[in-house]
Amino acid sequence: MTQPAANLTAEQRARFYAGKALATQPWVRAPTLTDARDGLGPLYNARSCLECHIKGGRGESTTSVERPPVATLVRLSVPGRGAHGEPRPEPVYGAQLQTRSTSLSHQLRDRPGAARYDDHGPAEAAVHLRWTSQTFTYPDGARVELRAPALELRRLGYGDMQPETRAGLRHAPSMAGVGLLELIPQEDIERRADPDDRDADGISGRVNIVWDPEAEALRPGRFGLKANQPSARVQVAAALAGDLGVTSSVFPDQPCTEGQPRCQAAPTGEDASGHEISEELLDALVFFTMSIAVVERRAPEHPTVREGAALFELVGCADCHTPRFGTGDDPDYPHLSHQTIWPYSDLLLHDMGPALDDGREDHRASGAEWRTAPLWGVGLARAMLESVGLLHDGRARTVEEAIVWHGGEASESRERFAALDAPQRRALISFVRSL
Ligand code: HEC
Ligand code: HEC
Repeated sequence: MTQPAANLTAEQRARFYAGKALATQPWVRAPTLTDARDGLGPLYNARSCLECHIKGGRGESTTSVERPPVATLVRLSVPGRGAHGEPRPEPVYGAQLQTRSTSLSHQLRDRPGAARYDDHGPAEAAVHLRWTSQTFTYPDGARVELRAPALELRRLGYGDMQPETRAGLRHAPSMAGVGLLELIPQEDIERRADPDDRDADGISGRVNIVWDPEAEALRPGRFGLKANQPSARVQVAAALAGDLGVTSSVFPDQPCTEGQPRCQAAPTGEDASGHEISEELLDALVFFTMSIAVVERRAPEHPTVREGAALFELVGCADCHTPRFGTGDDPDYPHLSHQTIWPYSDLLLHDMGPALDDGREDHRASGAEWRTAPLWGVGLARAMLESVGLLHDGRARTVEEAIVWHGGEASESRERFAALDAPQRRALISFVRSL
């Protein structure tokens, strides 16, 4: 994994590997002798991108409540909306819970006297997931064990949150193919949107409209699990700021609120550019993220897989998991331009029903609305990582569990899947796993 797209020039390969190094090597607390890699925190969730996106893929899921997940973020908001329609952050904790701090006290955790070194302020909280299980029974009597996470916050570092705070879990998706998704022309996505379900098929599909801090304008959202980021570049810069605490020209502020004065007063890793990552290195990281290749399909011609492909269409999976798109033209990314791609997503928001509703709105997305997860590479996720988590909060351990959780606009499709006989269900799953 994290292989570059096959058709890169030598100069582009060099940029790819520079970006890969930035995504892989841990960032450190400022100040250090070199400017290039300091600026972690003061509050952060991980030291590198690939600590969550394992090998550029999905994040590791946990099973025990005692083992806090690294790759599952908690997004916070209080009721209402900001000036650009964005969710309103919790006044002290902000819009994302950071579970680590560069304070020596945090690094020395549990050593006697560590609290004396609380120089940058404590971590915001420890995130624990308590898994509950339930059983789904198919019409033919077959059963699937399902599990769902309940959030448990321990060691809140800055006192109680506002009582009406909403918390949403976000499990790290794969970074592969992000550049190809970026190059899909917006009108091709919008052509599939049907916000008022005019064709009355029970499936709407909406475009999120989000704030782009670079363009200083509202734009269609495409990345993130609620399509709440307008571009790969803004998504990467948001990850730098929110997940690592590294500032850039796009997000110049540290992840500290006014209620966190020690965090605000901590030394920064700013270089001559006035940001913790320079424009050149940000470009390399974006280039890397955009250019991670998607895996090739396995055994597409196998008879079971072919049967599954037909069933996938028949039961209506393809109504949201759009198999094919074409990419447009981008002179900076000739290797991604003019390609036929198979992401199996319409990149639109769909209401997935109450079981997947996290009660937290994001721009125009309701709590129950999620962007159709691209299915390319999903079959190899298990091979890359034993404890993989599918769906927005990582609850599904297998493709089958993920399907069974579908509700809302996908209820009918889920019912049709459930009504298939067992060999047909297995064929459909084999097809998804071949993607
Ligand atoms: C603490 C774990 C964590 C770290 C560290 C992290 N990410 Fe992510 N990443 C996530 C989660 C969770 C999401 C989904 C966020 C959402 O939907 O709100 C995500 C989403 C993304 C996406 C969007 C993918 C898509 O299909 O829309 C990209 C691209 C990405 N991250 C790149 C990066 C880069 C580059 C870095 C390093 C600068 C990074 N991430 C660091 C957890 C992490
Ligand atoms: C109404 C639109 C819709 C239909 C129909 C639909 N899906 Fe989905 N699918 C989604 C959305 C949205 C998500 C993401 C939900 C989440 O993250 O909680 C998703 C997630 C998934 C995932 C998890 C992927 C991942 O990376 O987490 C799988 C697997 C999947 N769908 C397969 C299917 C199959 C197979 C069918 C047909 C039986 C189907 N879907 C029908 C919208 C749909």
